[in-house]
Amino acid sequence: MLQPNLVIRNGTVVNATGSVVADVAIANGKIVALANPIDLSACPELDASGKLVFPGFIDAHTHMGIPIMNTHSCDDFESGSIAAACGGVTSIIDFTVQEAGQTLRDAVEARIAKAMQKSHIDFGLHVNVTDQPARRLQEIEQLIAEGFTAFKVFSTYRQAGMMISWPDFRSVLQTVDANGGLLFLHAEDNDLVESQTESNVSAGHRQAIYHARSRTAAAEAKAIAQAASIALALDARLYIVHLSSKAGLEAALEARARGAKLILETCPQYLVLTEELYHRENGHRWITTPPLRTKTDSEALWRAIANGDIDVVATDHCPFTLAQKEAGHGAFHETPNGIPGAETLFPLLYTYGVAHDRIQIERLVSLLSTKPAEIFGLSERKGTIKVGADADVVIWDPLVMQTISDASCHGNADWSPYQGSVIAGKVDHVLLSGQFLVEKGHFVGRNVWGRLLQPN
Ligand code: URP
Ligand code: ZN
Ligand code: ZN
Repeated sequence: MLQPNLVIRNGTVVNATGSVVADVAIANGKIVALANPIDLSACPELDASGKLVFPGFIDAHTHMGIPIMNTHSCDDFESGSIAAACGGVTSIIDFTVQEAGQTLRDAVEARIAKAMQKSHIDFGLHVNVTDQPARRLQEIEQLIAEGFTAFKVFSTYRQAGMMISWPDFRSVLQTVDANGGLLFLHAEDNDLVESQTESNVSAGHRQAIYHARSRTAAAEAKAIAQAASIALALDARLYIVHLSSKAGLEAALEARARGAKLILETCPQYLVLTEELYHRENGHRWITTPPLRTKTDSEALWRAIANGDIDVVATDHCPFTLAQKEAGHGAFHETPNGIPGAETLFPLLYTYGVAHDRIQIERLVSLLSTKPAEIFGLSERKGTIKVGADADVVIWDPLVMQTISDASCHGNADWSPYQGSVIAGKVDHVLLSGQFLVEKGHFVGRNVWGRLLQPN
């Protein structure tokens, strides 16, 4: 064993497969020993007695600084990665932004340039295919051969120039799958969304609640059913992002029962918030797509998390400041859509999932770390505390209570959708490849840089 530069003593190490009180030794950015005890002297130690030690969390769905409605989501890779790190997230998988006429490769390079030496945590990229998808099939093959294996398409956002037609979806899915990649889909039926939006807006129904009434659960379910039938016919794997509704879940499970190879993601906002918030005077702040739903929807999603039907919880982190959100006050269709989430991902899921007895702690580690690592081809390095893995480690103190406030978050958004939530614990320390990002609850990683993640 290499001489460790740090030993984390006596914490309860929680992996997806089980929990054990153990010491964790780190050298050269890797975990080099896991035992109880590790016999070593003259090595710096961190006492984790009474604390939980997790593999770094992976937020598989973030949008740092993306263009939406004449503005940009307010976190860039620097501020967004600081916020994420403060919540125990040590890797994000963000998205490229393909401009009209741009090749996928140029979009990938442009996005890497924005993240490199800015992101304080490791970052991977899903390659968005929005412009002329049918002409990109060769580019897709080439990018997969180079290790960019995750691709993303939208069945909506036609007016923003991002929608893919179903025939193009079929070609892209076939190409991605046949070459060993994985396609991610934002599933909403655009015809339903557009017609409901138009009829609400023209009837003068512009308050925030009409966001939910325009982008309905039925629109989500219809697109999932359509996409899943294509995936089934091709025998291709398909990842559905930000599943928000009971109807969408049922459509996905029905397709799975018929043999569709679907991977399902949901987000904290669909688990802990409901559309009641849209009735508030400031309800437009919570406009995100898909919209918040009802308690019945969130209960169905929790059940699916507990019984293993949902594979991943990620955040869709896409924050806007209050000033940016104000553009849509009284006009749901003009509100930049998206909310912050990366920093509160683990604290919310721990509190409302584990502390409220909905799921076991090991299941949470699977949802936020092990499974996303596996799906993104990173299992050798990420997702589990084990010898040989990157020393991405989160130490959580379950005995300290904290309340989320607008001021307590570290990103550029000056508000939190979860303001007032009482969290059953606190992030104590976070390490990325053995380097401290967070020490005693404070971000200390200004000189720590994340690396581009590609499959093992
Ligand atoms: O409203 C959201 N979630 N904005 C980001 C783009 C998307 O649809 O995921
Ligand atoms: Zn989306
Ligand atoms: Zn998204």
